[in-house]
Amino acid sequence: MIRRRLGVNVDHVAAIRQNRRTSYPDPVTAAGICEMAGANLITVHLREDRRHIQERDVRILRQTVQTTLNLEMAATQEMLKIAYDIKPDQVTLVPERREELTTEGGLDVSHHRDHIKKYVQNMKDADIGVSLFIDPDLDQVRAAHRVEADTIEIHTGKYCDAVGDNEQRAELTRIVDAARTATKLGMRVAAGHGLHYHNIASLVPVVEIEEYNIGHSIVAQAIYVGLERAVRDMLALLQV
Ligand code: PXP
Repeated sequence: MIRRRLGVNVDHVAAIRQNRRTSYPDPVTAAGICEMAGANLITVHLREDRRHIQERDVRILRQTVQTTLNLEMAATQEMLKIAYDIKPDQVTLVPERREELTTEGGLDVSHHRDHIKKYVQNMKDADIGVSLFIDPDLDQVRAAHRVEADTIEIHTGKYCDAVGDNEQRAELTRIVDAARTATKLGMRVAAGHGLHYHNIASLVPVVEIEEYNIGHSIVAQAIYVGLERAVRDMLALLQV
């Protein structure tokens, strides 16, 4: 039996804290519980507007995370300095616009090739792995390979939003094609955004996808069953 790796995104815990500017709930505590429940990595997105995760969180997580710390961030100079300083195990480069509710689409690697290539190299020189969050689009996959990314994370938002079997199947096919192409090119493949306890089922058999980054649904489920059980239940679904 093989189990895909699970990264738990604890941003949503920080979002509840920031709503009231309290000291609780703490994403650092949540990350510890996730790891004890079997999560393989902890993912946090330090946004330019600091709407949920704070620099303080990332700094403490760097000291406490026992598995892998994956820092999602925009490819900016500010974030470059922070990554050099904190040294997460991996960064995932994501697009970021102030007005968007969350990360609405993947990074346009094709159009920003030179900038991203240099950025990837800077990270690698600092011994930090690099993943690029991209749409399931073959041009983007090839561009990610050209800029020498180690990993791609496929944006599953459209698949999750698809209405009806046909639309969902079409989105799944795009994901499978992107994952296969990336694997052939020698990159590792992760997937994430919008995944929950039901829509994950069709993705798990896709052998090329080794890892899932899931946040919202796990933190939401934790309201009912507690965080440890929410993580364990998701892990159980990642077995094939
Ligand atoms: N992966 C990336 C790159 C993301 O930006 C997000 C959303 O913050 C996730 C995974 C997790 O998405 P969700 O919270 O919808 O599970």
